[in-house]
Amino acid sequence: MRDLDVLVLGGGAAGLMCAIEAAKRGRQVLVLDHAKRPADKIRISGGGRCNFTNLHCSPANFLSQNPRFCVSALKRYTQQDFLGLVEKHRISWHEKTLGQLFCDNSAKDIIQMLLSELEAAGGVLQLETSISTVSKPDDRFSVATSKGRVRAKSLVIATGGPSIPKMGATGFGYDLARQFGHDVIAPRAALVPLTFSDANKNLCARLSGVSVDAEVSFKKTTFREGLLFTHRGLSGPSILQISSYWEEGTSISVNLLPGTDVFDALRAARSATPKQDLKTGLTQLLPSRLVDELSQAFQLKGRMADLSDKVLRRCSEQLNRWQLTPVGTEGYRTAEVTLGGVNTKELSSKTMESVMVPGLYFIGEVVDVTGHLGGFNFQWAWSSGHAAGQFV
Ligand code: FDA
Repeated sequence: MRDLDVLVLGGGAAGLMCAIEAAKRGRQVLVLDHAKRPADKIRISGGGRCNFTNLHCSPANFLSQNPRFCVSALKRYTQQDFLGLVEKHRISWHEKTLGQLFCDNSAKDIIQMLLSELEAAGGVLQLETSISTVSKPDDRFSVATSKGRVRAKSLVIATGGPSIPKMGATGFGYDLARQFGHDVIAPRAALVPLTFSDANKNLCARLSGVSVDAEVSFKKTTFREGLLFTHRGLSGPSILQISSYWEEGTSISVNLLPGTDVFDALRAARSATPKQDLKTGLTQLLPSRLVDELSQAFQLKGRMADLSDKVLRRCSEQLNRWQLTPVGTEGYRTAEVTLGGVNTKELSSKTMESVMVPGLYFIGEVVDVTGHLGGFNFQWAWSSGHAAGQFV
């Protein structure tokens, strides 16, 4: 049996960051993970190039029942701090768009950076180790694993959320939180494509592969980024973003021509080219495959000169404010993150420690803090891991 200062469950982004920081403070640290390789989500992130942070990261980029919870950790370990670490390891990077920073070469560079920092600080990572039971019989935690029992003064839960189960993602952290009396805000798939039924599903399938710049809104939240039609429904960054806000049984609004008032544009076209067909006019604004399908679905036809303001207004409503009701999402199978998680009301925003169980810490995605698409989820993993690492 091993007896340590700090045991971290989960060798992903948050767990490795916490272990590095704790080991740098001279703590005896062990990280356990059931996977064959560490940090598999970093490996596949950002299309293999890892969108490791965002230059514009702020608390406004996060969803939580307690929106102020993330403020302190994000302030104490910022995107610039992580960028400093990346530069210290001479990893070349670039800004893709909207402040999103990616590795030039490979996401593996980030994993290698974390592993070498951990080794230099004296922390140990042990893979292919499954956890059977966790208890706290006295002032130390006792964890039974497939490779023997470990005792530790501080126990850090960094096992992430259940998105992409085929990669070994589990709801283990939630079960453990509940075991120790914590409330868990109902988890749900987020940053995930939306699915449709009937006519809209068929329409999306026929348009599969077409992408446009779009503004997608739900209630007062709007994102302007790419939208992609797929065989099952809608995807692309704007849809993934809104999926974190969308509520079942309600509709989203899609503006297929952001920045263009379709009514004004069509009225101008009616004066300039009265003999032109409406459909031909629309192909100057949108991809022709999309115009073909939408003109059928919305009955958009006729010569410009013959179209009344009322008809042009209806056309503008449909293209600037297309109301769509998804039937669901693609679920955890493809979701980039999980919304919900350990209720932050029962955690210290300074240390990430449980207010109920001394020595128990929750960091990263397992906590009810979920970032927008664009490097924010990793920044939360780095910031929350760093925060806990100062106190475990
Ligand atoms: P993370 O999931 O990284 O780590 C948890 C670890 O715990 C894993 O190593 C797992 O094996 C281990 N574990 C789980 N259950 C266990 C158990 N029962 N016993 C032992 N070990 C267990 N974010 C971003 O900011 N930029 C991006 O580019 C992307 N891209 C991206 C692509 C894809 C396809 C996905 C699925 C996700 C992203 N993300 C992202 C989100 C990002 O990957 C995610 O928010 C962080 O990895 C969360 O870090 P954690 O350390 O909390 O969990």
